[in-house]
Amino acid sequence: MKSLKIVLALLVGASIVSCKDKRKPQVQYMPDMYVSVPYDANGVTSAGNVPVNRKPVAGTVSRNGIIAYDIPNTNEGYEKAKAELKNPIDATEENLAKGKELYTIYCSSCHGKKGDGNGVLSQREKFEGIPNYKDRDLNSGNIYHVIMHGKNLMGSHASQLRYKERWQVVQYVESLRSELLK
Ligand code: HEC
Repeated sequence: MKSLKIVLALLVGASIVSCKDKRKPQVQYMPDMYVSVPYDANGVTSAGNVPVNRKPVAGTVSRNGIIAYDIPNTNEGYEKAKAELKNPIDATEENLAKGKELYTIYCSSCHGKKGDGNGVLSQREKFEGIPNYKDRDLNSGNIYHVIMHGKNLMGSHASQLRYKERWQVVQYVESLRSELLK
């Protein structure tokens, strides 16, 4: 009986002590897990000047649906893309139709509906040297590469098109080219 009283007294005592000051945080175990360490605009913690503004770990993959393209914009890069890159999407009517839609928006003004280089901007002589696709040695790899990096007077179209959309356009450009070669 006596020990029970002692236990009760301790419990009551502990609860009174722990409620002593409501405005202050109570005892916390591992406070780092409750209170995050604030960083200032320069990425420096207020405590201890530890810089935290670090680059993502090498190989980090964005979760934003963006797929990195690490083949550089050089002649070697162009050749590498031509030799190694393959279209990862299936050759379906649906992809081809989407490719046509996007091509009409982003490419036909220069390259023409048929890919013969006779788009409006070419007719009005705004851009020179727009090729007929049949005169270039193209495959899915170098077409994708040129969409990503552009080539001479042609600018990059990487920001206008998402990953899958680019490959849909590639598929459509290849189909135009094979028509032109007939
Ligand atoms: C502002 C005009 C313009 C637009 C828009 C444009 N291109 Fe081009 N494109 C060019 C010119 C100019 C060249 C010739 C570049 C060179 O070889 O000097 C070219 C070349 C190419 C080539 C041949 C590259 C090679 O390796 O020979 C491909 C393929 C191509 N464009 C695809 C596209 C696609 C796909 C789009 C749309 C996403 C597009 N272009 C939009 C002007 C344009």
